[in-house]
Amino acid sequence: MPVQKGAEIAPAKGKLGVLLVGLGAVSTTFIAGVEAIKKGLAEPIGSLTQMGTVRLGRRTDNRVPAIKDFVPLAKLEDLVFGAWDIFPDSAFEAATHAGVLEKELLTKLRKPLQKIKPMKAVFDQSYVKRLTGTNVKKGKNKLQLARQLIDEIADFKRKNRCDRLVMIWAASTEIFMKPHAVHRDLKSFEQAMRDNHKAIPPSMIYAYAALKSGVPFANGAPNLTVDVPAMMDLANQQGLAVCGKDFKTGQTLMKTIIAPGLKSRMLGLDGWYSTNILGNRDGEVLDDPESFKTKEESKLSVLEYILQPDVYPQLYKDFSHVVRINYYPPRGDNKEGWDNIDIFGWLGYKMQIKIDFLCRDSILAAPIVLDLALFLDLAQRTGMKGVQEWLSFYFKSPMTAPGLYPEHDIFIQLMKLKNTLRHLRGEDLITHLGLEYYD
Ligand SMILES: NC(=O)c1ccc[n+]([C@@H]2O[C@H](COP(=O)([O-])OP(=O)(O)OC[C@H]3O[C@@H](n4cnc5c(N)ncnc54)[C@H](O)[C@@H]3O)[C@@H](O)[C@H]2O)c1
Repeated sequence: MPVQKGAEIAPAKGKLGVLLVGLGAVSTTFIAGVEAIKKGLAEPIGSLTQMGTVRLGRRTDNRVPAIKDFVPLAKLEDLVFGAWDIFPDSAFEAATHAGVLEKELLTKLRKPLQKIKPMKAVFDQSYVKRLTGTNVKKGKNKLQLARQLIDEIADFKRKNRCDRLVMIWAASTEIFMKPHAVHRDLKSFEQAMRDNHKAIPPSMIYAYAALKSGVPFANGAPNLTVDVPAMMDLANQQGLAVCGKDFKTGQTLMKTIIAPGLKSRMLGLDGWYSTNILGNRDGEVLDDPESFKTKEESKLSVLEYILQPDVYPQLYKDFSHVVRINYYPPRGDNKEGWDNIDIFGWLGYKMQIKIDFLCRDSILAAPIVLDLALFLDLAQRTGMKGVQEWLSFYFKSPMTAPGLYPEHDIFIQLMKLKNTLRHLRGEDLITHLGLEYYD
């Protein structure tokens, strides 16, 4: 466990600034959602911090507090939003453009949304081929760009009288990159920034600026970003919590719900074919093969880890797993995902499962952004630093401490999250053994 059982947690007093990199579909759906909930226009559906509970003690004890009453979380009224984007549109204009939420609702939220104007982005088209924008910073090198961000972060905190900040990457997926020698430690990382080295994409410049400013960081896209030794050293040195990568929504969410069920009944898998159509800007960016490669890697690893072909070769050795994303503008944010799952049962008899998920990407992602902002802030106030594996629940490709494999099974992830909360509050962990059977 990262901290002592029942450790002291600093209170969530004052304002929490949520700094979003990217003010697109996900970010605006998140901000507009929080404003709508604050006005009593909607319920926070899909958010564990707002609607979830945690069972404590024996089942007969009947102690099931709401998570937000059990641990001290920032209140929605205390959130302040800031963002960077390569387009100068306010959150109102960006939300209207994204087309996720209905005009009628957005009109009611016009005032708070119009106030949020994005700061100039650190952007370089070589890392996101399909985008060009004008709201972009200039600087002599990457370290200088990071310094501009650091100044802006301090300014934002002062002007908005924030007590604490968190930063979440909800900007476009960058091209596929592997860890490079310059990422190995902070010294070579900073030198590479001075040298404008190509192994330092914009997302790393934001993460560096956040960590230098004492701000915990979550990565909602599959980019490497903080998942390199230099950034982890910086996070540990600064005592900061980080987590990532890639919000778990849509097809991968379904995969991590269904695959553990198949495995629990020892049903075999011949293949899993996933394809989907998506028409938002994210879909357009992912239409570029180099950005798609980053996403594909993130989506593919899930089944291997859940099904453990090494442990169950008769059931899962050599299954095929194919993932396709097709950019199809008419659908906008309303993705349609099809899965064809070829399974086998008793005596090897074959069966098929077909899923047609008419999902709304940003509707699934927005509550994740809220929960991550609140839990990351909780981790920070508790003194938990480094990778927050208990937040794997929210990610397609969870970051882990070096040498560990990621846990993808959503039920194990949820148990780990809730047990972490129990541990923080000095309660017994629930393993579904001990207490109710043997006590
Ligand atoms: N919607 C989901 O369900 C979901 C799930 C997992 C991951 N994601 C990831 O979250 C991210 C956001 O998704 P979205 O649907 O909001 O996409 P979007 O295209 O609507 O928004 C992304 C925004 O980021 C901006 N941007 C790009 N590079 C930037 C930079 N360097 N600095 C500042 N802004 C920058 C773009 O201009 C755009 O407005 C994407 O990377 C996506 O892959 C989304």
